[in-house]
Amino acid sequence: MEKKTVVTVFDVSLVLLAITIIQGVQGIGVNYGTVANNLPPPAQVAKFLSHSTIIKRVRLFDANPEILHAFGNTGIEVTITVPNDQIPHITNITVAQQWIKTNVQPFIPATNLIRILVGNEVLSTANKLLISNLVPAMQTLHAALVTNSLDKKIKVSTPHSLGILSNSSPPSSGKFRQGYDTHVIKPMLNFLKDSNAPFMVNPYPFFGCTSNTLDYALFRANSGVFDENTKLQYPNMLDAQLDAVYSAMKILGFEDIEIVIAETGWPSVGDPAQVGVDPKSASEYNGNLIRHVTSGAGTPLMPNRTFDTYIFAMFNENLKPGPICERNFGLFWPNMTPAYDVPIMRNNVAGIANNCCKALLSIMVVLSFIGALA
Ligand SMILES: *[C@@H]1O[C@H](CO)[C@@H](O)[C@H](O)[C@H]1NC(C)=O
Ligand SMILES: *[C@@H]1O[C@H](CO)[C@@H](O)[C@H](O)[C@H]1NC(C)=O
Repeated sequence: MEKKTVVTVFDVSLVLLAITIIQGVQGIGVNYGTVANNLPPPAQVAKFLSHSTIIKRVRLFDANPEILHAFGNTGIEVTITVPNDQIPHITNITVAQQWIKTNVQPFIPATNLIRILVGNEVLSTANKLLISNLVPAMQTLHAALVTNSLDKKIKVSTPHSLGILSNSSPPSSGKFRQGYDTHVIKPMLNFLKDSNAPFMVNPYPFFGCTSNTLDYALFRANSGVFDENTKLQYPNMLDAQLDAVYSAMKILGFEDIEIVIAETGWPSVGDPAQVGVDPKSASEYNGNLIRHVTSGAGTPLMPNRTFDTYIFAMFNENLKPGPICERNFGLFWPNMTPAYDVPIMRNNVAGIANNCCKALLSIMVVLSFIGALA
């Protein structure tokens, strides 16, 4: 009788171990853009993401209340955005407080809000009013969160395009554009460090590649790029882009700040003349991306790091302007069928988890058998 109890306790701990392993499967983030007239209702999207995919984080380009409400009680981490045109106003603490009261307070704690982004790619707008108010707006919004005791849970940051770099090749020579480096980026990095928030970038190997560098951009087997300064070999373009950002941060003395990939992606449909724009390439890029950023391999200059990554985008968005590919960055069609094969559906993960459970179950059976014999 007593022996049996011992075995049961042992079985329970094995089951707990199995659960830990299943939950340990790394999640991925996705940008939930809504420039379309055919998207499903947010409640349906939130349910689909939390039940059927390994997507654990979403980023919104605004603070749409219907979407914020829909993600309530899903556990999914949500990031919201103050639109660029509101940046000058948010430098006023009264306005910042009001913004929190309207866009944050009604949805927490049910909705797992983790971050507020002040604008998107603001430095690339070349708008002096927005750029000069960017860091003050971030500081003021953070101060408003402090007043509400929300600053530990909700971080303030802003995503940058790689246009903020004046130099990115080789990666070790990465540096921020002169002028922006000391006047905007340095105070921003100071703020991010003090408030324990990440530096966020939008690297797109898709926009940086030609037919000659397509394999390098898609994480396929290729000869790579050698950095003479560091003697490091770059097997893929994303690592080179991230290390260029890291090198630029290092010049200013802030290389220890976490880097988050706020956007990256690959279109599955484009102009027929465009090289590498098809479902197979999109599937390769996003699949390899997910495996790479969650593997713990890191980059040549940032070994062993993982990067919180948000794929652009959730849906193909039919009202986006510009070339055909701009409307075809989505992982899903509006009816929520995958636009191509990519390892974010939960049954892929269940496969791994199942095998792992089966192995543990076999061990448990053997151990019970030994227990019974003894
Ligand atoms: C800040 O905003 C409030 C509310 O809109 C306004 O009453 C106040 O004058 C503004 N303060 C400054 C310094 O602009
Ligand atoms: C990265 O991980 C490897 C293997 O675990 C280890 O040998 C190495 O020291 C780590 N490097 C850093 C910079 O942490």
